[in-house]
Order: sequence, then structure tokens, then C-alpha cells
Amino acid sequence: MKRIITYGTYDLLHYGHINLLKRAKEFGEYLIVALSTDAFNWNEKEKRCYFSYEERKQLLESIRYVDLVIPEENWEQKINDIQLYKIDTFVMGDDWRGKFDFLKDYCEVVYLPRTPEISTTQIKKDLRR
Ligand code: CTP
Repeated sequence: MKRIITYGTYDLLHYGHINLLKRAKEFGEYLIVALSTDAFNWNEKEKRCYFSYEERKQLLESIRYVDLVIPEENWEQKINDIQLYKIDTFVMGDDWRGKFDFLKDYCEVVYLPRTPEISTTQIKKDLRR
């Protein structure tokens, strides 16, 4: 069974997220989402989420492509996660292209094209107008 992992915040879940998860799952049979915790978002990614970690986790767990949600708590955990969960493929949107190439020593690394014209940041901006 091929196992895939991807990382992200997934706040205000939108079709760009679903599209990414659907395509990620096509690389195998078991998809893990490492979901950024509220503290990690705030302290490291300078993101304030609308939905809490538990709310974002529940939403992700209800998606048919997602098999397991684990916390993303720091930038350094990826190698450990890949080894612990016996990951075959690491997937991210191509806004991260090149940033995780060092993981190629541990598994396949794939950057998928982002869905155009949608992002959580954009939704928040549009609603503020
Ligand atoms: N993603 C995507 N297409 C989009 C938006 C996001 O493929 N239009 C992917 C990202 O590349 C990432 C995952 O979905 O692999 C989670 O993205 P995240 O950063 O949580 O969502 P964004 O909508 O990009 O949020 P923000 O605008 O706050 O950065």
C-alpha cells in the first residue's frame, strides 16, 4: 500500500484544497495530512486561522481522500514523519516548489500545480471589501 503525506493549514476549506487532496491521493492508497496547529500557524507562519485546529481537523477527516490527520507542529518534523509513517510520496502545491527537495533522500517528492485564482488569503481579502 503506497502512502502519501502532505502538509498545510487548510483554513476556510475551499475547492483548491479539495483538488490538491484528490490529486495527492492518486499517488497511492493512504493519504496523511499533517495539519498546521494553531500555535505553529501563529508563531511560525504568521497566519491567524478562522477555524481552530480541531475544527480544521474535523473538516479534513470528513473528506473521502484523507485517511489520517496528524499535527504539524514545527518545520523539522518532516523526516521523522516520513520514516514513522513509512511514506512513499511527499506532495505539496507548487507554491513550495524546490523547498523540500532535501526530502528526496527519504521518499519521492512531488509538487502539484495549484488551482488558479483561489486561496484562503484571497477569500479573507474579498470578504473584507
Ligand atoms: N493549494 C492548491 N491550490 C490552491 C490553494 C492551495 O493546490 N488554490 C494547496 C497548497 O499548495 C497546499 C495546500 O493546498 O499544498 C494547503 O494550502 P494552504 O496554504 O493551507 O491554503 P491556501 O489557500 O494557499 O492558504 P493561504 O492563502 O492562507 O496561503
